[in-house]
Amino acid sequence: MIAKIVAVVFAILFIFVWIISPVKTNPPVTVEIQAEQAVKNILEKSCYDCHSNKTNWPWYSHFPPGSYFVGDHVKHGRGHLNFTEWDKYDTKKRKKLLEEMIEEIEEKDMPLKPYLLLHSEAELSTKDIEILKNWVFSSIEPDSVLENQSDEEHEHNHEH
Ligand code: HEC
Repeated sequence: MIAKIVAVVFAILFIFVWIISPVKTNPPVTVEIQAEQAVKNILEKSCYDCHSNKTNWPWYSHFPPGSYFVGDHVKHGRGHLNFTEWDKYDTKKRKKLLEEMIEEIEEKDMPLKPYLLLHSEAELSTKDIEILKNWVFSSIEPDSVLENQSDEEHEHNHEH
């Protein structure tokens, strides 16, 4: 009897999680970020599953509980940063995202830890981080970044 109840509860939970799981689609690529091949390879290997419309949906993303967690990561990942809808962002926003990218990879916050458990090949090597950093610094002019930062600090100080 107990076993039956457990089975039924489990089945209901399974279906429920399935229903509330985000839909797994790959919307069309509008404009993809431009970068040299070495950089592109790293982004595709480590970031594209969550930050592009070119997600490789693994088998476990089609069933609970994977359907929920994977779907949620991709939904939020794309919402924050999408390398294949680069036209969505103006110059300022692009710069900001690239700066944040450096922060995230230096602190090893990206790629997300749970993802790395199942995709060890996506882990960034010290060399990968170096390549990405050099690319970002050469594509966003360090001087203008510094100017913007001190401007912001200025405004901040005025508020108080
Ligand atoms: C498994 C999915 C996943 C992978 C892989 C992944 N990210 Fe993320 N990323 C997310 C999610 C989800 C967020 C939203 C914030 C959060 O939950 O921490 C995020 C947020 C970010 C942000 C913050 C954007 C903002 O608006 O603040 C940056 C930058 C970022 N990721 C860069 C990267 C880079 C670079 C890589 C590859 C080296 C990468 N991510 C790989 C899921 C992922």
